Amino acid sequence: MRSLLFVPGDSERKLEKGFGSKADVVIIDLEDSVAPQNKALARTTAADFLKQRRSGQRQGGQGPAVYVRVNDLSSGLTDDDLAALVPVRPEGIMLPKSNSGADVQLLAVKLRVHEAENGLSDGGIAILPIITETAAGTLAAGSYAGVSHRLTGLTWGAEDLSAAVGARTARDADGRYTDVFRLARALTILAASAAEIAAIDTVFPNFRDMDAFCAECLAAERDGFTGKMAIHPDQVPVINEAFTPSPDAVAHAKAVIEAFQAAGNPGVVALDGQMYDRPHLSRAERVLARARFAGIAT
Ligand code: COA
Ligand code: MG
Repeated sequence: MRSLLFVPGDSERKLEKGFGSKADVVIIDLEDSVAPQNKALARTTAADFLKQRRSGQRQGGQGPAVYVRVNDLSSGLTDDDLAALVPVRPEGIMLPKSNSGADVQLLAVKLRVHEAENGLSDGGIAILPIITETAAGTLAAGSYAGVSHRLTGLTWGAEDLSAAVGARTARDADGRYTDVFRLARALTILAASAAEIAAIDTVFPNFRDMDAFCAECLAAERDGFTGKMAIHPDQVPVINEAFTPSPDAVAHAKAVIEAFQAAGNPGVVALDGQMYDRPHLSRAERVLARARFAGIAT
């Protein structure tokens, strides 16, 4: 997954637009973009929309995968969110304000019950937690590896963390994240790598500033993120482009993999006067996997 577009769950208009976008995933939000008095409305709006989409009354089939961002585990709302949305079979649940791998395990247990109640296969629904929205969660970034086979990736957030630590802003006057947020970002990359799952970059709220957005996407891809969340449909094509490996990168990855295969899979090979060892091979395999996902390689 390269692009994950947030859509407020209480807006049918935006749901329609979101599923018409080229996002790899639409994240139906029941949490921060929905006012407290609209929580119940958002659940039924989103569930009805998905029901119609699944039954083919709306354009469906192909198109984005569905994740639902439920309210966090301390809100008292998570169970009702799951009860309303699991029956319409989302591909995944986004868990905000996750405090550690134990929160993912707790959500996994809840999902197991809801899957059983709805006759769905055990373990079919994925979990994507936001791991840096609390101070404790940020410091527990290393606790996610191996906690659940449902984990598809890790992502991070700066807005709630600012509020949690009492920072007035997350960025300095030049637009660069300050230290706490750079640490949170880096921990997300490291934690995802340790857990061998995808690292997904956080949102960029200034949806009219496309130059800054593009630069942030390129920096994220450079640093090891494999996708980014969007808050506006206009951000989706920029993300898809930035996180789709270039034809040159794909050709190079294939050449590296073929060189290892041709040499009988040794520790190190030479290609065009350059040394390539095992880390280069695994990087090449990852580029090829991303290219396949994007439909530009076989
Ligand atoms: N998903 C789907 N459609 C969206 C959208 C989104 N995230 N954001 C905007 N749109 C739609 C608008 O409804 C509008 O459609 P319309 O012309 O048919 O009415 C069109 O795209 C253009 O929108 P625009 O006028 O540029 O923005 P806006 O002022 O309507 O909305 C936001 C701005 C920020 C309120 C909106 O982008 C939004 O709701 N984003 C998601 C917020 C969210 O989920 N946050 C939680 C995670 S941080
Ligand atoms: Mg939030």
